[in-house]
Amino acid sequence: MTGQKIDGVAVANSVKDLVRASVAELKNDGVEPCLATVLIGDDPASSSYVTSKQKDCADVGITTKDHRLPQEFTQMELDSLINLLNNDKTVHGILVQLPLPKLLDEFSTISRISPIKDVDGLTPYNAGLLASGRAILKPCTPLGIMELFDYYNIELSGKNVVIINRSNLVGKPLYHLMLERDATVTTCHSKTQNLAEQCLGADIVITAVGNRAHFTLTDSMIREGAVVIDVGTSRVNGKLAGDADYEGIIKKASYATPVPGGVGPMTRAMLLRNTVTAASISKGFVTNR
Ligand code: GUN
Repeated sequence: MTGQKIDGVAVANSVKDLVRASVAELKNDGVEPCLATVLIGDDPASSSYVTSKQKDCADVGITTKDHRLPQEFTQMELDSLINLLNNDKTVHGILVQLPLPKLLDEFSTISRISPIKDVDGLTPYNAGLLASGRAILKPCTPLGIMELFDYYNIELSGKNVVIINRSNLVGKPLYHLMLERDATVTTCHSKTQNLAEQCLGADIVITAVGNRAHFTLTDSMIREGAVVIDVGTSRVNGKLAGDADYEGIIKKASYATPVPGGVGPMTRAMLLRNTVTAASISKGFVTNR
C-alpha cells in the first residue's frame, strides 16, 4: 500500500483564502485586524519565523506591528510592552515568539497577555478553557493538525492516537483536542519505555520530537494503514527534515505529512485565523457560549 501525501500547503492556501475574505468583511465593518509580534534577542531561526508570520499577515490583509528587542531587554521592560499592547485598541492579537532568552520568564510573560488577544492560545486562561472544551483561541500547531484531519476526512472517533510530545505548545493542547473528538489518546515522551510498541498500537501517530539525530520514526514502528503526522523539524546535512523517514513511512501508512510542506504551513495559516478571530472577539462577534 502506498499512502496519500497530506498536502499542508494546499490546505493552508484554502484556509488563507477564507481568512482573506473574513479580513475584508471585518474591514467593511470598520475593524482593521492587527497582529503585534514581539521578538527578543537575535536567534536567526526565531527571527525568520517572525518575518514569515509578518509576510503571511500582509498576504491576507492583516496589519502588523513588529517589536524586535535586544537580548538584554529586561522582564520589567517586556511586562510594560505587553501591558501597552494589551491596552492598545488597534492591536487584536499579541504573539511573543518563543523561546525567550534564558533570563526572561516564559510563563509569567505569556500569562500577562490578555486572553482575548492570545492568538497562540497559550495563556493559562485559554489553556484551561481548552481543557474544558470551551476555548476559542487554540494553539496554532494543534489547530492546524485538526484542520488537516477534517480536510482529508480522517476519522478520529474511537481511534488510538499516540502523540510523541508533551509540550504546552503541541502535545498537551493536542491531547485535549483529540479527546474532544472521542479519540483514545496516549501521550509519549522522552521517558516512555516502550515507544515503538505504543506506536505500533496506534491508528494515528503524531510525532513532534524535532531531533533527528536522536529520534527517527521509521516504518517498522507503525502499523499498516496508520496515519502519520510529522511536526518535528531538524536540519540533516543542511536540509530541513521531519521526525519521520517519510519515504519509508508513506509506503506503509494510509496518510502522512511531509516535512517541509505538511504541518508547518498549517501552523502559519492558523495564526492568521486566530488573529481574525481575536479581531472579531474585540467587536463582540464571537463568544464561547
Ligand atoms: N516558537 C515555536 N513555535 C511557536 C509558536 O507557535 N508560537 C510562539 N509564540 N512561539 C513559537
